[in-house]
Amino acid sequence: MLDLFADAEPWQEPLAPGAVILRRFALARAPALFDGIDRVAARSPFRHMVTPGGYTMSVAMTNCGRLGWATNARGYVYAHHDPQTGSPWPPMPEVFQALCHAAAVAAGYDDFVPDACLINRYAEGAKLSLHQDKDEPDLRAPIVSVSLGLPAVFQFGGLQRSDPLKRLMLEHGDVVVWGRESRLYYHGIQPLKPGIHPLTGAFRYNLTFRQAAHRE
Ligand code: SIN
Ligand code: FE2
Repeated sequence: MLDLFADAEPWQEPLAPGAVILRRFALARAPALFDGIDRVAARSPFRHMVTPGGYTMSVAMTNCGRLGWATNARGYVYAHHDPQTGSPWPPMPEVFQALCHAAAVAAGYDDFVPDACLINRYAEGAKLSLHQDKDEPDLRAPIVSVSLGLPAVFQFGGLQRSDPLKRLMLEHGDVVVWGRESRLYYHGIQPLKPGIHPLTGAFRYNLTFRQAAHRE
């Protein structure tokens, strides 16, 4: 099939105040990012975390960077060590940092320096219910979210759970950046449809870069 976008430059779509979609922004670096995911997962494997309420998440997760996000009986925490291996989370691959920096600048967040990267892996049917990213103490920093592999429907709402939702397909190489006015907007991922992607097989991967520590 003729792919009209195969050679296209990335393009931007405004999403909300402070939020933008950078279409295909990560495409050129996708194979290197996928290698990076492999290297991280070799040290800190993907696992299905259990919420404080006892619900096993359908999305498999791991982390890299100085801090990693995890669940425990009391809630959600950022910690330096992987609770499963007892070792520090693997370092953030350089290609992750480079991509994140370029995307943040393109979105108008020039001074974003992430110290945590949550890696989500979606298999068929996996979803992420509507939530806010609110475990980070410094809300001046945006979230940079990179989609790889199979497409998924992203929901993006407002400050209230009941606010109307935009539904957008996120595809391989798309990057979403949200901050400032929309930093605490509700968002989620609808159940993944089955498929096979040339790079990632039966999965969708998502990297979310965060600043999880206070900045001096
Ligand atoms: C997230 O909300 O942390 C991940 C969103 C996504 O998988 O695109
Ligand atoms: Fe989120």
